[in-house]
Amino acid sequence: MTVTDHPAGADTGAGTEELRTRVAGLLAASRARSTALTEAVDEADLVAQHSPLMSPLVWDLAHIGSQEELWLVRDVGGREPLRPEIDGLYDAFQHSRASRVQLPLLTPDETRRYIAEVRDKALDALGRSAMGGRRLEEHGFAFGMIVQHEQQHDETMLATHQLRGGAPVLHADPPPAGRPPAVREVLVPGGPFTMGTSTEPWALDNERPAHAVDVDAFVIDAAVVTNGEYAEFIAAGGYDDPRWWSDAGWTHRTEAGLVAPQFWERDSAGRWYRRRFGVLEPVRADEPVVHVCFHEAAAYARWAGKRLPTEVEWEKAARFDPASGRSRRYPWGDEEPTPEHANLGQRHLQPAAAGAYPRGASALGVQQLFGDVWEWCDSGWHPYPGFEMFPYPEYSQVFFGGDYRVLRGGSFGADPAAVRSTFRNWDHPIRRQIFSGFRCARDATPAELRDGRTR
Ligand code: AVJ
Ligand code: FE
Repeated sequence: MTVTDHPAGADTGAGTEELRTRVAGLLAASRARSTALTEAVDEADLVAQHSPLMSPLVWDLAHIGSQEELWLVRDVGGREPLRPEIDGLYDAFQHSRASRVQLPLLTPDETRRYIAEVRDKALDALGRSAMGGRRLEEHGFAFGMIVQHEQQHDETMLATHQLRGGAPVLHADPPPAGRPPAVREVLVPGGPFTMGTSTEPWALDNERPAHAVDVDAFVIDAAVVTNGEYAEFIAAGGYDDPRWWSDAGWTHRTEAGLVAPQFWERDSAGRWYRRRFGVLEPVRADEPVVHVCFHEAAAYARWAGKRLPTEVEWEKAARFDPASGRSRRYPWGDEEPTPEHANLGQRHLQPAAAGAYPRGASALGVQQLFGDVWEWCDSGWHPYPGFEMFPYPEYSQVFFGGDYRVLRGGSFGADPAAVRSTFRNWDHPIRRQIFSGFRCARDATPAELRDGRTR
């Protein structure tokens, strides 16, 4: 089978100066977001533990600086450590999230000074880097990795905001309206397609290399599952019927007392409300369901007579262009995401209604694969054939195996700089403080295989 990766990203051929300008802009944008998320609350709130699942916000902020120092200031820039004594405090592997609040962390002001000093020196390194020569600097990879890292922690901090109590402090415009796609299911043809990438300059090690995968034909929903649909599952007693749950899922549902997505509550008349960044509001039926764990997603799918897509199926539905036979960079083509393509980048602090981004549809007509909610896939967290760890094992490699499940596509909290159609996220199957939802898939029937379309 041949591997038909998308052409290299638009910036690959760009001159070094252009690339530096682009990197500087992305670094500034991620810092603006980190700043907004941490200026929104007071000092006490910054150092508080809002949930044992999350770090204090001030830890995330200093950790962002610490990673930037490690890779851009020390490695690329060749400088001595600024504050070697704090390295261990901000090493995610030395302290659990729940225990970080007890560490002698930098104060919010010390943290702000530290990350500003690091940024200064990182920009100096940006001016000096040849943006090539060694693999870490090729096409500005180290800078791209650090931009993505900061944006990832900005999404993590947004999840911390969602967990914190108290008055609302974050505000954003509502997302565009939409009508559910007219075609509810899409038949994805069987046969080989190219998964992963070898040409995307800032793709992380776990997305590589591009490789051909043969997939049986399958059917996937054109839209993600909405709150309205999910509420039907609840009303039908879905949470009380072990038939829909795996053994591990039923055990978890029982021990954790799950009855609805996280942040949902019901009034005495049985109407559902949800708490979103400090505001209690009616659950909108047309919006993608969010804050469900893998087990809830899998149970819903089974109740609906379907299943979750595998990671391979998700990526084929997102990238495969039947006209050319090749895999696209994004569902809609090779151009970078714009606000018309997807709900990304914390522009809106909630998922957009199903059907709100017809321009973001894949070649096969599957909508909203990007943005809105991370989509649970029925796949564990494994390396691709030919995986090579780069540049450090603690990003992907140490997590391979275990009970993790893959999530794809990014959420409203994820930045375009940090998601691609090859981007792979993962988490424990019980986690739901993340912005996670799902869509359903199923095997194609013999009649569908014969006709080449769904019925
Ligand atoms: C890719 C989202 C699973 O937050 O654990 C941040 C990203 N890695 N710092 C995580 C990450 C190191 C990672 N996820
Ligand atoms: Fe990190």
